[in-house]
Amino acid sequence: MISTGLRRSALGACRGRAGGPISRLRNLAPSTAVTQHEWRGVSCRHPLESRRWISVYGYTQAKALIYSRYGEPKDVLQLHKHSISAPHGTQVNLRLLAAPLNPADVNQIQGVYPSRPPFETSLGTQTPCAVAGNEGAFEVISTGSNVTNIKKGDWVVMKQTGQGTWRTHAQMDESQLIKIEDKEGLTPLQVSTVSVNPVTAYRMIKDFCDWDWMRTGEEWLIQNGANSGVGRAAIQLAREWGIKTLNVVRERKTPEETENLKQELRDLGATAVVTEAELLSGEFKNLVHELTRKGREPIRLALNCVGGKSATALAKTLAPGSHLVTYGAMSKQPVALPSGLLIFKNLAFNGFWVSKWGDKNPQLKENTINDVLQLTRAGKFKDIPVEELKWRWNSEGAELLAGVQETLSGFRSGKGLLRYEAED
Ligand SMILES: NC(=O)c1ccc[n+]([C@@H]2O[C@H](COP(=O)([O-])OP(=O)(O)OC[C@H]3O[C@@H](n4cnc5c(N)ncnc54)[C@H](OP(=O)(O)O)[C@@H]3O)[C@@H](O)[C@H]2O)c1
Repeated sequence: MISTGLRRSALGACRGRAGGPISRLRNLAPSTAVTQHEWRGVSCRHPLESRRWISVYGYTQAKALIYSRYGEPKDVLQLHKHSISAPHGTQVNLRLLAAPLNPADVNQIQGVYPSRPPFETSLGTQTPCAVAGNEGAFEVISTGSNVTNIKKGDWVVMKQTGQGTWRTHAQMDESQLIKIEDKEGLTPLQVSTVSVNPVTAYRMIKDFCDWDWMRTGEEWLIQNGANSGVGRAAIQLAREWGIKTLNVVRERKTPEETENLKQELRDLGATAVVTEAELLSGEFKNLVHELTRKGREPIRLALNCVGGKSATALAKTLAPGSHLVTYGAMSKQPVALPSGLLIFKNLAFNGFWVSKWGDKNPQLKENTINDVLQLTRAGKFKDIPVEELKWRWNSEGAELLAGVQETLSGFRSGKGLLRYEAED
């Protein structure tokens, strides 16, 4: 942290023009964000601009990845610098620990996702904008006098999606946050990725199938996209709940790499892992027959995040009266269903969207998060593999944007994760 004297003299050097930043700050309402661009507007280049600081008036410098129109992240995202006032009332000031780059985040920026945060000028931008990102873990750095349940040093996650998590600092109302009750033994990665993918897997397994608990270990679920964050969560939760899993992954470049991936998922608790080519082959029916002890162990739930032929093939394995739940469309192909599966097997086809579900069930969402974190602490829920993108105060916008753009491209060794390395 920079000393007050230094800060004052640095700011004082700018005072001659247009009143200088301090006089501007004094005139602002307490919660108003002050942008770096305004300061540039008075041709005042702060000598300590490259460092973060908290002013004598309690303003915290912050940076956010924002967008004011839809398109590819590399074309529309901007790194925006602004200031956040000291928190008042029930406000809480936060510093980012880590935020994942989920496929839905990119779809949202592209404008092809059904929920879109409103474009606003609350960060002091001339053009209304939204902060990207839906999931993340933050540390509380200060609280308003009416905050009751959260204190400095606590870790929190967002209560809802669309609150904007790709930012170094944020100011939110206490009511928008879920406090992590016991952060001991947890890492920023684990907390930052708990509220979307694991919750999605958890709810889909629990809420769409009446599992026969008397037959623990004798019932199956099948899923594609098994190497995804949701897929890996489903494997581990199913293992804990005595449900066998048949998992479909995409082939890797070499048979060795494919076998390594299969082994990785088996190590997590997958009962069986097949490739998409194996799923679509004529042999697959026989393999299912064998795995399920000639059908005596029914496949009662299918989780689909791919669509197209893959989804159809999953549906064909299901026992009568089972559910196929679609929660993603990574192949961008529609789900095609043979009529016979509806008529003769009475299969049910559902969709699940964790954002909507969480809005309707806030307490259940919190409970679900706590359950998963409990398993994590106990070593029963492993971290997803990630490609960390370090965000330092001086990180260039271009560097961050390139990392975000990569999120939906090709085969990756892990999910993109923004990891903020605070200097204060
Ligand atoms: N509905 C909901 O509430 C909800 C919640 C969370 C996630 N989702 C959706 O679930 C899906 C997975 O999300 P995530 O965050 O878990 O993913 P992730 O960890 O970022 O991984 C993406 C996964 O998608 C797979 N993939 C990419 N392109 C594919 C294609 N053309 N065909 C088949 N698989 C493909 C990748 O396979 P490889 O491993 O082979 O690279 C990878 O496993 C996304 O569609 C996401 O939008 C939905």
